[in-house]
Amino acid sequence: MKLFLDTASLEEIREGVRWGVLGGVTTNPTLIGKESSDFLPRVKEICSIVDGDVSIETVGDDTDNLIRQGREIAQIADNAVVKVATTPNGLGATRALTDEGIKVNMTLNFSATQAILTAEAGAYIVSPFLGRLDDIATDGLRLLSDICEIYAVQGYTTKVLAASLRHPLHVVEAARMGADIATMPFKVFESLVKHPLTDAGFKRFSDDWKEAMPHLGELLPSMQEA
Ligand code: G3P
Repeated sequence: MKLFLDTASLEEIREGVRWGVLGGVTTNPTLIGKESSDFLPRVKEICSIVDGDVSIETVGDDTDNLIRQGREIAQIADNAVVKVATTPNGLGATRALTDEGIKVNMTLNFSATQAILTAEAGAYIVSPFLGRLDDIATDGLRLLSDICEIYAVQGYTTKVLAASLRHPLHVVEAARMGADIATMPFKVFESLVKHPLTDAGFKRFSDDWKEAMPHLGELLPSMQEA
C-alpha cells in the first residue's frame, strides 16, 4: 500500500520525501486554500518534488468545464492526476477524460454504489472518505472493506485510495483490507513511526554505546562521527 500525504504544504511534503516512503500527494480546494499561495506555482512545485501521483481537484460541476479543467490539470506535469467529485456530471467528465488517456481520481466517495459507478466510468482511482463517515456515526472502514471486496470480485483495476484518515489504526486497517493507497494528514503520517519503546530503546543503546566507546578499540570511521 502506497502512503500519500493529504496536504498542500511544501514543508510537510519535503519531510515525507526525506523519509523515503512518500508515494504521492492528494490535495483539495480546502488544503490549497489553507496555504494561501498562488495556485498554479504551488501545484507545479508539488508535482516537481514528489516522485508519484499528485491529485489536483477540479471545481464546479459542469461536465464540459470539468473536462476542460481535467485536460489543463493533466498538462501541469506527468504525475498530475485529475480529481473529480462523484456526481453524475463528474462521472461523465471522468469517462471522457479517461477515454483521452487522462488519469482521474474520483473523490467524495461515500458509498459502494458510487464506487461501482466510479470503476465503470474508468477512473484511475476511487477515494472513499473514511473519517467523514465515522464523523456521522457510519463505519468508514466497513465501506472500504466493501469496496476492496467488490473490486476484487469484479476484477476492477481502479485503485482504491483510503482518504479522510484520522488516526494510525485507519492506516493499518486500510493496509489489511488491501487498499492500494492511503492518504493522510501529516500528523497521522508522523504518528506511524512513533513508539515509546523505540524512543526508550534508542536512548538506552546510545547511552550504552557512549559509555563503552572508549574501550572498544578500532571503530568504523562513520561510527566515530555518529
Ligand atoms: O483530500 C481528501 C480527504 O482526505 C479529506 O479529508 O480530513 O478533510 O475529511 P478530511
